[in-house]
Amino acid sequence: MLNPVPTPVRRSGILSAFLLTLLTLVSCSSKTVRMPADALSLRSPDTQLELKFAVLDGVPTYTLSRAGQAVVLPSRLGFDLIGRESLDNGFTLNGSAFDTFDETWEPVWGEEAQIRNHYNELLVRLKKESGEAMDIRFRLYDDGLGFRYEFPIDNKLTYFKIAEEKTEFALAGDHTAWWISGDYDTQEYNYTRSRLSEIPRINAAPRPYNASQTDISSRAVQTALQMKTDEGLYVNIHEARVLDYPTANLVLMDDNRSFQIHLTPDAEGVKGRLQAPCVSPWRTVQVCTSAPAVLASRLILNLNDPCVLDDVSWIHPTKYMGVWWEMITGKTHWSYTSDYPSVQLGVTDYAHAKPHGRHGANNANVRRYIDFAAENGFDALLIEGWNEGWEDWFGAQKDFVFDFITPYPDFDLPALNAYAHSKGMRLIMHHETSSSTVNYERWMEQAYDLMNQYGYDAVKSGYVGNIIPYGEHHYSQPLINHYHYAVVEAAKHHIMVNAHEAVRPTGLCRTWPNMIGNESAMGNEFMANINPGHTATLPFTRLQGGPMDFTPGIFEQDMSITAPGQTGKMRHTLCNQLGLYVTFYSPLQMAADLPENYARFMDAFQFIKDVAVDWDKSLYLEADPGEYIITARHPKMATLNSGRLSGHSSVYDFVYKDGRQHDVWYVGGITGENAREVSVKLNFLQPGLRYEATIYADAADADYETNPQAYTITKRTVDSSTVLDLHMARSGGFAISLREL
Ligand code: NOJ
Ligand code: CA
Repeated sequence: MLNPVPTPVRRSGILSAFLLTLLTLVSCSSKTVRMPADALSLRSPDTQLELKFAVLDGVPTYTLSRAGQAVVLPSRLGFDLIGRESLDNGFTLNGSAFDTFDETWEPVWGEEAQIRNHYNELLVRLKKESGEAMDIRFRLYDDGLGFRYEFPIDNKLTYFKIAEEKTEFALAGDHTAWWISGDYDTQEYNYTRSRLSEIPRINAAPRPYNASQTDISSRAVQTALQMKTDEGLYVNIHEARVLDYPTANLVLMDDNRSFQIHLTPDAEGVKGRLQAPCVSPWRTVQVCTSAPAVLASRLILNLNDPCVLDDVSWIHPTKYMGVWWEMITGKTHWSYTSDYPSVQLGVTDYAHAKPHGRHGANNANVRRYIDFAAENGFDALLIEGWNEGWEDWFGAQKDFVFDFITPYPDFDLPALNAYAHSKGMRLIMHHETSSSTVNYERWMEQAYDLMNQYGYDAVKSGYVGNIIPYGEHHYSQPLINHYHYAVVEAAKHHIMVNAHEAVRPTGLCRTWPNMIGNESAMGNEFMANINPGHTATLPFTRLQGGPMDFTPGIFEQDMSITAPGQTGKMRHTLCNQLGLYVTFYSPLQMAADLPENYARFMDAFQFIKDVAVDWDKSLYLEADPGEYIITARHPKMATLNSGRLSGHSSVYDFVYKDGRQHDVWYVGGITGENAREVSVKLNFLQPGLRYEATIYADAADADYETNPQAYTITKRTVDSSTVLDLHMARSGGFAISLREL
């Protein structure tokens, strides 16, 4: 509901005018540009954040401050267009309007049952003498700023092409930043922590290989960019609701602490083809006074539109296993035969091909996984490598690579689905597009129909390699439209989507909650390449835009044990992986290791069985980016059993042990390169109740390099006055389930 705002804060009197001028001069002392005393001013609901806007010599300019302390110094707004006058100068202010909004909404799934969306708004209308009109809408929340460009229909601009978006973020200091290299195609990188001014030097080093990557410059980084000021403010630049528009990178400007947006070009070099009326994505500057507050911020979700699906009853949080890790580790293969140097859709004779004998998705193996996952109460099983075409899917950049409907001869799709369903579980479909989005769109309808026919209700899609249409990028406008099309079409078929290698999310899951997962960052599949501390960074960066299918739960770090002949050791302890189920939010959570690896540690596996994946309350107890995170969560009772076709999920059974509902909480902790002793106060438990705590913790001699599987499991009775002292080994962690006695 929109209410008119009380009149914006306007100061009067000589003293306040003097103070304002002084403040403006002080806060902008390092820049030559200054905001005039009559700049428009907008305050956050708690009045701590202040946005100012003015047109300075024709240039739209804004600042952001918190409690009088500058966060963004005077920064320009606007665009360069192709073949016409630029939109970053020559403007006059043609009107403005203030507004306020306060609602509480309920996500279909999430970290809490209710989210408050409370902001004050300023809309400025800008016009050029030549007739171009551009509005800018600012929304100021207690935890940050969102603003976007809007192009009204009454405009000299109708169709126009962007050469570059010139939005600036002039930061007020040489902050500490957690960043990954700018890229048009991938975010599968480790994070670096450095000062802003150090980025160009560090970022000049060659980047690790990815199947599709396009460097921008050593000065470019990606959003969400988490920063911390020397005064202890957490500032995060990201974007929200990226639709029909390319994804932004950030380029460090000459002063080594300001950024300008750098959009991803399409195959013709155009950075956005727009038609008025239209809007840009929101540009966001989150400002928090503590690291836990960053994790609790819902700025990005709030800037997205409410859910557009009338019926969401078919969307359910899911805990799953997969015939997957064995291919990733090289124990088995996605492909079926070695008979042919290349294969072709509809031409290759698979029926008469000799199997190479290491095809993972074969009937017997899939049944083995179904048995194990069903016995342990999982909702679903993913199977990759089930369909024809994997023999040369990678590297050839083929257009017609898969049809998404033809199983290999040893994968009996109807029978395996029937078998899974008989055990109360569903199978999860896999669509690797090999980045041929034209081909995926060719087959999508038939592929989704096939899923409906056999009762699949979730798909994992993938975009490995360079994009076809040739010359496009994973982040360019046509691709943004493709990922969105796939989600919208899937919703029509009541299919949930988990896209890998797609663009990093920007909160669209609020509007289309069938987007239950995304990879779009370096996940466990990178094995030994993942740095300790990576998972303690992602919730501050990648996860700000939506959940990640990180695929946690790897108990066997030594690849030569999982896949004989392979080398490399993953850099985490077993308890670190348990901690991720609580610290890393996702409504789609995998137990990624092999059944035979879990079978060796069934007592620790119990936590993965017991932990919920959907929450009505989340508490971020302690955190420091890249260093450590401790989170407590309370499950949402209504969705405890929603993933299963029949029978109970493991979580449901845990909560309803002994035939009655118990109050249940889960706590998880993870740490980076440094070992850590922590004290966890259980003061969030219901006072007066006693709980049984099952504590899964790194043993005293655990260490990710030398002793990653050393853990202890202890049970004790606790209540809301209990403080638990816990040890986390290097790259370690802990997990606790708490059940009311
Ligand atoms: C990369 C994905 O991230 C991974 O999960 C998948 O198994 C492979 N592509 C093959 O599709
Ligand atoms: Ca990937």
